[in-house]
Amino acid sequence: MIIAVDGPAASGKGTLAGGLANYYGLPYLDTGLLYRAVGLAISGHEDRPNFETVAIAAAQALDASHLTDVAELTTAQTGVLASKVAVIGGVRAALFDYQRNFATQPGGAVLDGRDIGTKICPEADVKLFIQADSKARMERRARQLESRGVVVDRYALYHQIEERDARDLANPNGGFYKADDAHLLDTTLLDIEAALRAAIAIVDGTM
Ligand code: C5P
Repeated sequence: MIIAVDGPAASGKGTLAGGLANYYGLPYLDTGLLYRAVGLAISGHEDRPNFETVAIAAAQALDASHLTDVAELTTAQTGVLASKVAVIGGVRAALFDYQRNFATQPGGAVLDGRDIGTKICPEADVKLFIQADSKARMERRARQLESRGVVVDRYALYHQIEERDARDLANPNGGFYKADDAHLLDTTLLDIEAALRAAIAIVDGTM
């Protein structure tokens, strides 16, 4: 069984996808981490003329199975860098095979990202498209960061999330839209447990 979970920044899709993987005993891939690792690798180069070439080389050199230093990968700044490299077609192409192979491994998998149901795995058995309003998403991400001891500027974080959404939605190479056969799940008013119950009900109802 392949479960594709897509949605915007801080929509709760990572927590949900991890919860589903745990519940169904499937391996889980957070594809955002791949883009974040490339973003982090080119940090400081983003305003240089050879930015695209450097980013594609970083994506091709990425050892996706050994992503370490997760704390640095999950900062809001790295998220913005990730969205800058994610518009480059060559970066997306370089990361495609790893994601595709992960999705199609025997026994199935859960993947979350932006384009899992549209590009990486259009044949997924279940597709979930997670949404939540921007303020709720900002507040969730703020609490997540604070739980790790990070001091959060909510105003700046809100704008980083909006900037990222705008770039992701406009990304011509992105595939970031709800697939026709994806189930929409709005988590604005749901806590983690309620969102996971709703997602499990959708998956069980599809199988
Ligand atoms: O999911 P997360 O917020 O960690 O993703 C970071 C960024 O990586 C996104 O804002 C998006 O630009 C990019 N991304 C993508 N396609 C994916 C996963 C992430 O373009 N499948």
